Order: sequence, then structure tokens, then C-alpha cells
Amino acid sequence: MTRPGARRPASPALPTSQSLPDELDVLVLGSGVAGLSATVRLASPPEMGTSPSDGLRVGVLTKAELWRSATRWAQGGVAAVLGGDEDSTDLHLADTLAAGAGLCDTDAVRVLVDEGPFRVHELIAMGAEFDRQPGGALDLAREGGHSTARVVHAGGAATGAEVERALVDATRRTAAAILEEWFALDLLVEGGRCCGVRALDAEGRVVDVRARHTVLATGGAGQLFAVTTNPAEATADGLAMALRAGVPVADVEFMQFHPTALHHPAMPRPLLSEALRGHGALIRDANGERFVDELAPRDVVSRAMAAKLSSQGVEHLWLDATGLDSFSSRFPTIKASLEAIGLDPHVDWLPIAPAAHHLSGGVVTDLSGATALPGLWAAGEVACTGVHGANRLASNSLLEGMVFGARLAEAIRGGDDGPSPTGAMRAVLHGGHDARDPDGDFGAGVSVRSGGAGQAGGAAGGAAGGVTAIDVEKTVGRLQRAMFEGAGVVRDAGSLQAATTVIESVATAVGTATPSDRADGELANLVTAAEALLTSATLRTETRGAHARADFPEAAHRWRRRIVHVDGRVTVSSEAVDSP
Ligand code: SIN
Repeated sequence: MTRPGARRPASPALPTSQSLPDELDVLVLGSGVAGLSATVRLASPPEMGTSPSDGLRVGVLTKAELWRSATRWAQGGVAAVLGGDEDSTDLHLADTLAAGAGLCDTDAVRVLVDEGPFRVHELIAMGAEFDRQPGGALDLAREGGHSTARVVHAGGAATGAEVERALVDATRRTAAAILEEWFALDLLVEGGRCCGVRALDAEGRVVDVRARHTVLATGGAGQLFAVTTNPAEATADGLAMALRAGVPVADVEFMQFHPTALHHPAMPRPLLSEALRGHGALIRDANGERFVDELAPRDVVSRAMAAKLSSQGVEHLWLDATGLDSFSSRFPTIKASLEAIGLDPHVDWLPIAPAAHHLSGGVVTDLSGATALPGLWAAGEVACTGVHGANRLASNSLLEGMVFGARLAEAIRGGDDGPSPTGAMRAVLHGGHDARDPDGDFGAGVSVRSGGAGQAGGAAGGAAGGVTAIDVEKTVGRLQRAMFEGAGVVRDAGSLQAATTVIESVATAVGTATPSDRADGELANLVTAAEALLTSATLRTETRGAHARADFPEAAHRWRRRIVHVDGRVTVSSEAVDSP
């Protein structure tokens, strides 16, 4: 295999497959904000007011080191109502619903904005240090789509790193078993219940890790695209495992592109935080003219930029932060990364172009994080709780991980099992309309596979050996380019079909054998997720939020529904989403 870092020796201090109990109480997959927010509450940290004897047997399985999650890359911050009189949770709710473009679940957003401030304070109590004003009050920033300043941040624009540091430290104070450099291949499903995962351990051996409850907290899918702000780990692993197990997945056509990624060969693309625009940075076209409200929601800004890039025939536009006196003190980490490549933000305009950043959809959950498969839970970017709708509001994602990671931990501790018809789960439990029904309203023109059960990468039943006949790195690059060209900021039927053709040929080359290492497994997961995204994007014949169709440029009322993948089929929810 040609990808670096696929296998490394385990630290001798870490648990091995032999030292794990026959069955864990909870297995958490992923070590970002959502997974560790759940872990610290399940594995009885002293901060939560429980004694060690209350602890469940918890394992955290992560494909890299514990701290190496996408969370640590988050810049801007955590949006929560913690500050002045001019803000309220009603306003945060209204901003989130407006950004979500008619597909948010209002109850889920209410949970997010109401519980968010408490979870931020809990994180502070756990040791997280956010930036403060001279008088000691939390310093609040404004970002696109927010009607006021409500984003707490750390180290200027290094918020994710501080959140991750605090949670990793807290996790290490628990008795949770930490399985670093392990790679989950697929969910184990027996008798209609998830009972753990089949995984490659740190030595590359196939091991079944059994658990009464399994938590998907595997993060995002930015690596589906050739241009992304996401780290190499963001390969849609949990999403693909859920699709293969037939667990409902929704809203995956809504990949959000961040407008102000630095246009530079580095991958992931260095991010120029939205907080810069909150402080007054301006977006300029190739002629130096402004053309968009810099503080509009992210989908609006990215779409306006895509139109400008195309009409002016250029590869990038400009972020002008030269008017920000406080750049060096307020954004030291961004300043340092710019300096490293010879740019001085006090003097230079910064070249920018949109980059894949955050998947708004994912594995469908109820308001407690339960998926439709008993024993399986999901939180964070891998989940579709309903809070983001068609376009996530800036800085709502760390918050979502904190709030819903904690909620699912409390639900597991409280003995909950199986989903309730709340949040995005309503789209599943209230039934759906089969999108392939030729007599239905929604089926025309869909010719791609769903990315569902039994496709590439399935652990159960596949012959060992993995993808041996192809160059994995080159194949990943081919997939990423096809997705960026065909399913980028603006799509149409032709571009989606072109991408689909490439992905189908990649899927054939990859086959269905059990992956033999992490690189194989990630490629299989990217294929599965790409198929699902392309199917949904082809089916949704409208423009809404982060899904912009050049051939259907308006939002259509009949599409205020979720496209749900379940058991290899694609359905459209029968009820319109409850969102203003
Ligand atoms: C940013 O700092 O611009 C990213 C914040 C986010 O994605 O929510």
C-alpha cells in the first residue's frame, strides 16, 4: 500500500485485543469532541461527580493517536449564548434555522442552543481555557450567519486544539481502555442489534471488539474531495460502516464548502477562519471589488464566490485583512501559518477559494443520539441529529459534539435502548417514500447506487486480502478529483453523472474483499460514502443550503424532506421537515 502511516506498532502500555474484556459496556469509535464528551461521562471522571466504581467498561477505538482528531483543526470556536444582553437562545435558534435553509429539526436546534451554554461551562470546569477580555469575561467573536457575537474561542483561532486537549486530559484520567492505531472495519450486527465492531488492531490483525453499546463518533468526510480543509483522517469511516450495515443515513448531499480556505498547494488547505470576516476582513474579486456580504451564511458566500470564479475565469479570489490592526494578537496561529509561506496579512491580500469543510448530514439519530439500530449511537459530524439542516451555522459543530455526545452518554447510563421518534429520526420512524418508485414524484433521473448494504469494504463475508491490484493513493486521488469536479460547490445533472461514472469504475476496481489495512479500508469507505452523496445530490432537483444545482437554481417546497439511505435503498421522508 502506498499511503503512509497505515500501521504503527502499539505502545506496550496500551490494551491489546487479549487484554480487553469479552464484552465492553460501551465502545466509542473516534476521539474528537463528540466521542470524548461521551467517554468522560461514561467512564466516570471525577469532574462529573461520580465515583470510579460507577464506571462502565468503556473502550475508545481510534485509528491514530488519541489526540489526532479533526476537532483539533477547528479554528473559529464554539457558538453558545454566554454573553451580553443583546443575545438569547431564541436568537441563536433563529440564526441556526435560517442557515439550515428549511431542513433543520427545530426541536434538535432547541436542545442545541439551550444545553450548549451549560456544556461549555462543564468543559471549562474540566480545564479548557477560552480567551477572555481584560476584565475576565469570555471574549466573544462574531461569524457568518450569526446576528451577534457569541462564539467563544481559544488561542485566537485554535479553539479545537484546546477543546481536544482538555478532553484528552480528562479521558486519560478515566479508566477507559484506549485503543490507538486500531481501525474499525465494520459493525457487528446480530439479532437486529449492534454488538461492536470488527477491527484491525494496531498489529493489523482482524479482531472482533464486542460491546453492549457502540458509539459512532468518527467525524467527517472532507477527504471525499480533492480540495478540503479536513485532515487525512476524515474519510467517512462511520458513515460508510452505517451504510453497509443498512442503518439509515440522511442529508449527505449537504457537504458544506468553507469560503475562505487559503488557495495554496498544501492539503488540507490552511483555513482562514470566518472570525477574520467577523473582525472586518473583506472578500474581493479579481478586480479588487467586493461582491458579497462577508457575514452571510457560508453557503451563500461560497456560491457567490463560485459564480465569480467562473465569470472571471480565475482560480482564486482575495481575502483582504489588511485593515485588521489586531491580526497578530487576535489570530496568532493564522499569522504564523501565513508567515511560514511568505504572506504578511497586514500587507498582502490572501488568495482564497472554497474547500470542502463539513458534512451537515450523516447517520440519523434521535435527540438522545440513538440510531435506528439498537445498540448503535452516533454523535458529532458523523451524525444527522437535524441541527444543521441543509447548511451548518458557523461554530455550531463543536457545540453539537459537546451537547449530543453528553446526551447519548446520559441516555446509555439511564438505560435507554433504541430510538424514539424525535429529531431527525422522525424522517425514518414516520416512514418514507421509495425514491426508486417510477410512479413517485421523486424518482426521475436517478441511476446511481445508494452506497448501501453489502458494497465495497464489507467486513462480513469478504475474502481476506484487500485491494491488492490497484494503487490506493492514486485511486483515492482519482475519486477526490471526480468528486470535487462533479459534486463541488455547484453541481448539475451532467457533472454528477460524470462523477458517478468515475466512482462506479473505482468501486469495481476496489471490489468487496475485506480491507487488509487502514489505507484499503479508508478507500472502501470513501467509495461507499461517495456513492451515497452522489445519489442524493442527483435526486435532489433543487438548490438548498450547501446543495447548489445549476440546473435547478431555486429551492422547491416539495423538497423540504430528507433523502434517507436505508438498507441499500434510497427513500424520501414522507413528512415535510418541521422547520420554519
Ligand atoms: C472557521 O473558523 O471559520 C471554521 C468554524 C466552523 O467551521 O464552524
